[in-house]
Formats: sequence, C-alpha cells, structure tokens
Amino acid sequence: MLDYKPSANLLRDRVILVTGAGTGIGRAVALAAAAHGATLVLLGRSQARLEQAYDAIEAAGHPRPALVPLNLETATVKDYEELAATLDQEFGRLDGLLHNAGILGRLAPIDHYDPETWLKVCQVNLNAPFLLTRACLPLLRRPEQASVLFTSAEVGRQGRAYWGAYAASLAGVEGLVEVLADELENTAIRVNSIDPGPVRTGLREEAYPAEDPTHLPLPESIVGPYLYLLGPDGHGVHGQRLRAQRETRTGG
Ligand SMILES: NC(=O)c1ccc[n+]([C@@H]2O[C@H](COP(=O)([O-])OP(=O)(O)OC[C@H]3O[C@@H](n4cnc5c(N)ncnc54)[C@H](OP(=O)(O)O)[C@@H]3O)[C@@H](O)[C@H]2O)c1
Repeated sequence: MLDYKPSANLLRDRVILVTGAGTGIGRAVALAAAAHGATLVLLGRSQARLEQAYDAIEAAGHPRPALVPLNLETATVKDYEELAATLDQEFGRLDGLLHNAGILGRLAPIDHYDPETWLKVCQVNLNAPFLLTRACLPLLRRPEQASVLFTSAEVGRQGRAYWGAYAASLAGVEGLVEVLADELENTAIRVNSIDPGPVRTGLREEAYPAEDPTHLPLPESIVGPYLYLLGPDGHGVHGQRLRAQRETRTGG
C-alpha cells in the first residue's frame, strides 16, 4: 500500500467527498483523486481556498468538482442533511468519503486546557465526521462498493502529554471507526482510518514551530495510500488502522 502506483483511470466515474480539501493533505488527495478520474466534492471552511483547488482541478482538465463551503465547527444536523440531499440530487450516490479536516487546538496540560478550545476541537475532529457520515450513509449504500476513510494521528492511537483535545478527539475517531466498521461488516461499505504521519502542512507547523519543515514530505508525496483505500484496489480492507508513511520520525 505504501508504494502503491494507481492506474490512470482508477477512480473514473466515482464521486468522492473530501473535507479540508482547500489546503494540505486534503487538497493533495483531492487533486490526485481528480487526476485519476474522480468527481470531487470539495468541502472546507474557506471558500477562497476551495476555489483555488477547484481552479487547479479544472485547469488540469479533470472532472469538474463541486464546492461545499461549510464550517464544521458550527454546522448543524440540518446543514449535513441538506448537504446529503443536494448530493443525492446532483449525483445520486457517494463512492468515497474522506474525513480529513482537522484542527490542533493548542498544546497544554489538562489543568490549563481552555474548555472552549476543547469543545471546538472535538466538534471539528470528532463530532463533524460522525454527523457527516450519518447523513451520507444512505448515499454510500447506493454504489456496489464505497469507502469511508477517517483521519487519525499517532497521538490518537497513543495519547501523549499536552496534546489534549487533539489526541482525545482522534482517539474518539478510532472508536467511531471500530463501531462503524463492525456495523458495516459484510456490506459494500468499507471503513478505515489513516494516519498520514508527519507531513509538511500548516497544522504540522503549528504543532512543531521550531522544526525545519524542509525535511518533511510534501502532501503530494503521500497520496498513494489514500487513493488505494478510496479506490477498488482497497476492496477488502476494512476496520483497519493504517499509516500513509513508514514510521521514521515523531508524528502528531
Ligand atoms: N500534517 C501532519 O503532519 C499530520 C499528522 C497527523 C495527522 N494529520 C491530520 O491530517 C489532516 C489534514 O491536516 P493537514 O496536515 O493537511 O493540515 P491543514 O493544511 O491545516 O488542513 C486542515 C484542513 O482542515 C480544514 N478545517 C479546519 N477547520 C475546519 C472547519 N471548522 N470547517 C471546515 N474545514 C476545516 C481546513 O480548511 P480551511 O483551510 O478552509 O480552514 C484545512 O483544509 C488533519 O485531520 C490532521 O489532524 C496531519
């Protein structure tokens, strides 16, 4: 999976929703998925960044994506249901759902952890993926195969001092993946989590401000495992915790 070489039309005619698609890993996966034939639904907070991703996909001549500017911190249950209804009208199904949007919050010991930040981080990293998945499940049941991919991190698998709500929310994501994977056992929907490992993005810089980012891989270099898990070659991989890189250095 780590050295996966996707075929040119791997994702042809597949509709894939990516959250946090305007920057970093989400943008790189969205562009790569579009380059392999998928029609993307680009979801993110900043409309301007989504439009830049849209322009890049269109300029490359890939299938024209749909844009969904949505703030996952404040989105309501109704917003998710309306989004699912719009996707149903536009596409009638969903072949892939990548929960990639995430925020770090702040690094602090629990006794000094600001409660407002805690709730915000849990809303974006854990509650939003639950609400979006719940709304999209009927659409994910339509194709012959579908893939739901959640994003985790090293600290979501083994908590570490000061990582607060980020670590706790991603541990919650791992729990959600276990529950959902068990519920969807022997169905056409597979459910997994992926830890991208350390990647040169804004979030990584926020977590490790003193680090020299030039030693970190770019988001574009780790998209292979995402395409593998979103596409037909990942069929049969279900309920797994996966990594997008070999373990070489400390991940967040
Ligand atoms: N980079 C790493 O080393 C690393 C390691 C382990 C795990 N991860 C995980 O990988 C995922 C992608 O992160 P990244 O490294 O690519 O960082 P990033 O460039 O900061 O991307 C985070 C994305 O999340 C979106 N987002 C944040 N808050 C949102 C909100 N309220 N509503 C909608 N979208 C929101 C952002 O959208 P806007 O730009 O529109 O705000 C942005 O596109 C995250 O889940 C992160 O936890 C990253």
